[in-house]
Amino acid sequence: MSTAMTRPADGLLTVFKVEHPEGKAITYDRDALCKKLGVDDPGRLIVETQGYHGLVMVYPHNPLAQVRAVTREDLIMDRHGRYTAGFYHNGQPVRKRLFDPSTGSAQRFVLIGTTGAGKSKTLQLQLIAEKINGICTWLADLKEGQSVPEAAGNVDWRVTSLEGAVLMLMAGVEVAKARMRRYSALGRNAFVLGDDPLLHIHIDEVNRLLERGSPYRALATRLIKELSRTGRSVGVGIGLAAQAFHLEELGGSDTLRAMMKTGEVTLLRWTSSMMRQLVADGILQIGSQLLPIPETLAPTVLRSPFDVAGDDSDVPGTQGMAYYVSGPRPTSLMRHLRVGSIAPLPGLDPEILALYGPEEPRRLEEASLQALDGDGIEYMAYALRNDDGAMAALCAQFADAVRTSKTKAGRGPTAPADADADDHANDDHNSEDGEDDGGGDATLPPASLPERILAVLKAATAPMSAAAICEAVNADGGRQVGLGAVRNVLTRLSAPENGPVTRPGHGLYALA
Ligand SMILES: Nc1ncnc2c1ncn2[C@@H]1O[C@H](COP(=O)(O)OP(=O)(O)O)[C@@H](O)[C@H]1O
Ligand SMILES: [Mg+2]
Repeated sequence: MSTAMTRPADGLLTVFKVEHPEGKAITYDRDALCKKLGVDDPGRLIVETQGYHGLVMVYPHNPLAQVRAVTREDLIMDRHGRYTAGFYHNGQPVRKRLFDPSTGSAQRFVLIGTTGAGKSKTLQLQLIAEKINGICTWLADLKEGQSVPEAAGNVDWRVTSLEGAVLMLMAGVEVAKARMRRYSALGRNAFVLGDDPLLHIHIDEVNRLLERGSPYRALATRLIKELSRTGRSVGVGIGLAAQAFHLEELGGSDTLRAMMKTGEVTLLRWTSSMMRQLVADGILQIGSQLLPIPETLAPTVLRSPFDVAGDDSDVPGTQGMAYYVSGPRPTSLMRHLRVGSIAPLPGLDPEILALYGPEEPRRLEEASLQALDGDGIEYMAYALRNDDGAMAALCAQFADAVRTSKTKAGRGPTAPADADADDHANDDHNSEDGEDDGGGDATLPPASLPERILAVLKAATAPMSAAAICEAVNADGGRQVGLGAVRNVLTRLSAPENGPVTRPGHGLYALA
């Protein structure tokens, strides 16, 4: 059943309201629909569905063939923590979320798309927005720094190697843990913008880090999980951009699945196998209802091999077209604002540099800098981040250490890394799933409960209650423990005259 109506606004936009007669989800074949409606350019046809309802729109021209360039104004966060990232086909702005002031939660960001779809440019848009809004950004640009070159010097920390990315994640976990201890001692249970900066850690081409065969697959998966679990309430967000989003290729973990379900997900041009995976993994329920994004806006005409007149060279591409799946209109085709030149340039893009602006990027607050001031390798990495030579040497040393620890543990570096059990769909990121991430990374030994409690007390600036200690211990990324167990250990540690823990007040504990 379908009714047609025309709206004379732009002359010829035609909207068909359709619904499935039996109340089933609408499916359709784009090419067949174009043919039926006599539409030569598939870019003029937009379909949006919601369950058994659908809108079929035929525009006089492709409404997203051109989008304007981004300005710094577009990128200033509104009071809901959003910036303008592009436009929907109907001209409405696409407001993407950088932060959620209503819950104080740091966000998780996911960009998915095939090569050339516009992931790195979309990421660049966000990185510029982060700098403008005073967010402290760490970036791992895993194509040797080629994907987002203008970010160098415009983010607090940038790495370009797999080792660098792992060290960055480790340091991020330390910042999150230290903030957690600090906030818990202050009795603060959510992040408040305006005090400490948000810290966003982005990894472009994260598939390189997490795919099978990557020596850091298990470790990086675990660190990303930990960050997405502990970072939310302490203003540490994480962003991943990847070509494929098969969970199996991404370390296969429930937390990654949860991250994609609850995060800010933008889906750029995909391949049919990518879409199958996304739907099969249960990440994208609406997957089958999305109108695919073609590679170019060329009209679909059959051309004979003798037809020399057909020249595709100036047919506009579809880079930057996407679905903002977490937005209010997930099935509505949108396009990101233009960031810099579309044509390749011989060097850094001056337009992009101007958008970042000349000021220094936001740095971490003093307390987090202190938390990063230690002799662990991740602390050294942060301290050496602006010294390319020293950083490269440190990464080589780290790569060696990981190789050696794997060989020692009887696992060759190419042994399949342990994928997390992926069959129990526990999407609650706050609950510990108790799963063991297995061996393969001797760099993060599990601490015993007394050790963990002492670490919490060591970081505390004031005496803490058993409940606060328990909460902080449970936030350190290790196995979850009950209050009873924490009390028992506290009693044990504070019982002897010169034990490591004292009780400065009723129900309060501190390091002796
Ligand atoms: N928002 C955008 N503004 C300007 N150019 C874009 C945009 N998105 C994509 N492009 C163009 O498409 C090309 C590929 O985009 P890129 O972000 O490198 O894709 P991916 O990272 O998905 O491989 C870029 O080099 C650029 O020319
Ligand atoms: Mg890229």
